[in-house]
Amino acid sequence: MIIGRKVVLKEELSSTNDEAKRMALAGEEEGTVIVAKRQSAGKGRLGRHWSSPDGGIYLSIILRPMMTPGEMMRMTVLFGIPVAQAITETTGMEALLKWPNDVVVAGRKVSGLLAESVSQGGQITHFVLGIGVNLNSKEMELEGERPGSLARICGREYDPEAFLHKLLFHLDDFYALYSKGEVSTDDYLRVSATIGRHVVGSVGDQRISGKAMYVDDSGALIIKGDDGLTYRLDSVYSLRYDET
Ligand code: BTN
Repeated sequence: MIIGRKVVLKEELSSTNDEAKRMALAGEEEGTVIVAKRQSAGKGRLGRHWSSPDGGIYLSIILRPMMTPGEMMRMTVLFGIPVAQAITETTGMEALLKWPNDVVVAGRKVSGLLAESVSQGGQITHFVLGIGVNLNSKEMELEGERPGSLARICGREYDPEAFLHKLLFHLDDFYALYSKGEVSTDDYLRVSATIGRHVVGSVGDQRISGKAMYVDDSGALIIKGDDGLTYRLDSVYSLRYDET
């Protein structure tokens, strides 16, 4: 076991990712997980805020994988798989992945992942993988695009400890496979809610609309544009489904 061999539980942190980065710099071991009951300044992708009220699960994992910064997108994209597994097993509801890093149940975002690197002397020494799950959160306290709480969607509350345990089990299992190179983007495609959909990707003023075809080995989304061209979207893009 690597992920979860040490778990640090806190009542409140500004951001578990920031705490994990601080601990990594101070020499904390790979696999340590920092969990908080709430965050006062939870961070989302693209500089967004991640609502972190009581009832949610907020955790960050310190990883020291042998990989390049370019692999960070692949890692974040693929690590949605064990999060979706834990959610499906707990709730009995189908949890799917919306590229790049959202876990969606019944069309609502119930979880998100955020990977960050830690550098020292110009060298990347660690990666921190942050995961937020709206387990028993009150939906009125959540912000963002179509956020959902599993308790609200499923009509019952869940035991946070049991869920955390299951989540760490799946994450560790997955990391073992990932480290051996035994995870492929095909595994991702099986739980993807995005592939085959008509989507619009945007960054700044640029918009690309077309059909989501597949996720390549770097974790980028490949789109067949409405103009007939092929586009590769990396993690600076935000994505929405085009329902028209
Ligand atoms: C996103 O969907 O934009 C990513 C959200 C990631 C949220 C988690 S909660 C635990 C960890 N700490 C943070 O500040 N952010 C991540």
